[in-house]
Amino acid sequence: MSGPTITFPLNSETAIPAVGFGTYLISNDDAELTISSAIAAGYRHIDTASGYRNEETVGAGIKSGLHKEGIARADLFVTAKLWPGNPAWGDAPKTGEQTLEECDASLARLGLDYVDLYLIHAPYGGNMRLEQWRALLELKARGKARSVGVSNFNEGHLDEIKAAGLPMPDANQIELHPWSQKPKLLSYMKAHDIAPIAYSSLVPLSTWRVEKGQDSAKTDDMKADSTAFKAMAEKYGVSEAQLLLRWGVQNGYAVLPKSLNPDRMRQNIDLFSFSIDEADMATMATMDRGEGVAWASGDPSK
Ligand SMILES: NC(=O)c1ccc[n+]([C@@H]2O[C@H](COP(=O)([O-])OP(=O)(O)OC[C@H]3O[C@@H](n4cnc5c(N)ncnc54)[C@H](OP(=O)(O)O)[C@@H]3O)[C@@H](O)[C@H]2O)c1
Repeated sequence: MSGPTITFPLNSETAIPAVGFGTYLISNDDAELTISSAIAAGYRHIDTASGYRNEETVGAGIKSGLHKEGIARADLFVTAKLWPGNPAWGDAPKTGEQTLEECDASLARLGLDYVDLYLIHAPYGGNMRLEQWRALLELKARGKARSVGVSNFNEGHLDEIKAAGLPMPDANQIELHPWSQKPKLLSYMKAHDIAPIAYSSLVPLSTWRVEKGQDSAKTDDMKADSTAFKAMAEKYGVSEAQLLLRWGVQNGYAVLPKSLNPDRMRQNIDLFSFSIDEADMATMATMDRGEGVAWASGDPSK
């Protein structure tokens, strides 16, 4: 593996850069400069969502980053996500027609003609879930999304698509780190050529989402274990963040680190000058603690 622009196959025609820049919890005050700085630091993959309520300013950052770096839109991979609604929160599920409109609205806010990947953010669509998926296939056919996929879907949700005889998603974006390894879901995805994209890779760090009010269901046990990866990182002469992100890319998962801090931003894309040896990968494989913690408001796969 070499270079920050390494990609993983997404389907037979497209590939996804192994390191993307996450935009959740980036305020509208910070987004333009932060995204433009990420592009200047070498990120060529930006992950956003209508649910993050920052698409306009993320779009402004993309525009300014591309301009300053003198690179073309085609050299950047952009992911956007449909907010599917959630009846449990009094938010009616989007119909197929509304799904098409939502994608157009996201493109307008981002200032883009197409996205490289459009995802259903969570399986909350209930009896509209398949209709939403059919609409994503239509968006791909119309060229508004080069690839389409889902996020936070479990085997049951993926099976629903399979049973309907529809093409399977190109990708499933899920919480993945040594404390949430989801082996059964990943083996199902591998068998169906669904690429894994890892979010919240940095959950084990004491610095993960420390600001008051940021969504997190981290347990006290996890908080007490915040130096679990320190010795291993020291062995490779890297930060714990780099170790956790390298674990993801070494397993073949694209990762999406978010940081407002320029040093961390640079560090998080510098993952290709070391590799984790087999013994340490085997140790990390034993550290699974279950489903994950990034959605404090409830398990998004339910
Ligand atoms: N599909 C979904 O449901 C879903 C859910 C969650 C996330 N995501 C996507 O995945 C992206 C990443 O997930 P995330 O934002 O939860 O978390 P993350 O990238 O795993 O971690 C971000 C947190 O770690 C800190 N951090 C970043 N780099 C660090 C470093 N080198 N050393 C120490 N601390 C560091 C950041 O603080 P500073 O900013 O202060 O550096 C921030 O608090 C999101 O932004 C979003 O795009 C998707």
